[in-house]
Amino acid sequence: MNRAQVLEEIRQEILVCPKCDLCESRITAVPGSGPLDADIFFVGEAPGQQEDLNGVPFVGAAGKLLTSLLSMIGIEREEVFITNVVKCRPPDNRDPRPDEISSCNPYLVSQIALIEPKVICTLGRFAMQTVIDPEMSITRSHGVPVRRSGIIYFPMYHPAAALYRGELKQIMKEDMLRLKALIDNEKEK
Ligand code: URA
Repeated sequence: MNRAQVLEEIRQEILVCPKCDLCESRITAVPGSGPLDADIFFVGEAPGQQEDLNGVPFVGAAGKLLTSLLSMIGIEREEVFITNVVKCRPPDNRDPRPDEISSCNPYLVSQIALIEPKVICTLGRFAMQTVIDPEMSITRSHGVPVRRSGIIYFPMYHPAAALYRGELKQIMKEDMLRLKALIDNEKEK
């Protein structure tokens, strides 16, 4: 099987996944989207209502902000891989539970292992604590890269948080510019 087939197989598995209670309330699971050779891999929290209807991550209001932040640094959304810690929408957009995160985590681990991105950018506390370190604080750690085993992890606030706390939008813009500088620096190496 080639890499594209493996990615498709992971997607198909997610679409029919029965591993936690979220499978009972979801309309569509949201495996993730983006190219196999993406250098940048974004991890959000969980699908919301729009994503649950469409099967595509970050297509609602938070997604529009993410897309505009990316275009500010000259990156098209189609160039990056985007997924979530939890692939199915939690009812009423509640926080994902630890058991849901741990049932779903093997999918994220497989996607990362296959795509081998240069930078993993986590959006919000859940993604940061799942992917980087459960003890991290988003207030202290956002915008500061963490290098581990040849991968650069870059924690950011979640764009949905910036929609209701306006001051975070400026912080997210500054962090995006740091991400751009980091990527440019890596390309020169
Ligand atoms: N928020 C997320 O964390 N992920 C999505 O896909 C949409 C909104």
